[in-house]
Amino acid sequence: MTTTTHRIIIDCDPGHDDMAAILLAAANPAIKIEAITAVCGNASVDNTTNNALRIVDTFGLDIPVYRGATQPLLHRYEFPAQFHGPTGLDSAGAELPAATSTVAEGHAVDAIIRLVDANPGEISLVVVGPMTNVALVLALRPDLAPKIKQIVFMGGSSGEGNVTPAAEFNIWADAEAARMVFKAGVPLVMFGLNVTHQTLLRRADVAAVRDAVPGDNMVADILEYYCGTYYRFAGADKPGAPLHDPCCIAWLIDPSLFEISAHAGEVIVDNGGAYGQTLIDLRPQDPAHDQREKNVGLAVAADPERFATLVTQAMIWAAERVSTRTQDVAS
Ligand code: RIB
Ligand code: CA
Repeated sequence: MTTTTHRIIIDCDPGHDDMAAILLAAANPAIKIEAITAVCGNASVDNTTNNALRIVDTFGLDIPVYRGATQPLLHRYEFPAQFHGPTGLDSAGAELPAATSTVAEGHAVDAIIRLVDANPGEISLVVVGPMTNVALVLALRPDLAPKIKQIVFMGGSSGEGNVTPAAEFNIWADAEAARMVFKAGVPLVMFGLNVTHQTLLRRADVAAVRDAVPGDNMVADILEYYCGTYYRFAGADKPGAPLHDPCCIAWLIDPSLFEISAHAGEVIVDNGGAYGQTLIDLRPQDPAHDQREKNVGLAVAADPERFATLVTQAMIWAAERVSTRTQDVAS
């Protein structure tokens, strides 16, 4: 019997790779998802909340879903429907069914505050969308920072961005929120594009998910949509589509999948071309004289093959689970 080793809240903007992160966590008994909190990002918070509800309902996950921030802290932006589709979770075939459950009562920020306050040092925040909800938690209750075990997040990069040359989407969408999180003193483990562009979902992985459940296979269809969108933007010659958000969960399950190193990091919020950049100080220094505050544990390397195996196994688990649930309902 595997005991729970990680109690987490997944703060997300589902989002295809957000769904993969939720399913990877749900498939692993060492992880207990205490709550899913939705935020505006890949789509409106109405859509990201609804997508989170569709995920927990379709896969039979007993996890409360809370609705969070409707817009970033300071600025307004249009949702990038070109990546995840108008719903935020479009499919190349079978769609997730409409949600049957309802959103949990209360705001996502209040839910995070309540869970962390009641479980000091126990809860890891896994943040795989813009950091608006987490920044609001820290603004409302700065005294909670020492009670948050760690913030494991997908965002930023120690190299190039994906929305601009400098900025990755989750950080760019609310750089002011991210700057607050980087300065809060909570242990940070960062999975940026510098490493998530190594952790690919390849065509063979999607095929393995499809082969595992012949016939209707909405998990394979949804993954196919995500990969197809990436290939349309990046080129069909690419060996696979970066699966960003599940990196956070994969690391919790098996830290040996990644190399993490501590660095000083900050988020740029100037209104120039560097807006939303995560500026990570990678310069080597003699430890005897290094006075920098190393506030970020940066993932600098990954094992792509073992990552793909772990994620593909979880997607197969999910595809089989929904197939079984569909058969049970039909019988
Ligand atoms: O840049 C990748 C990130 O932006 C991922 O979290 C993806 O879901 C989108 O939110
Ligand atoms: Ca996301």
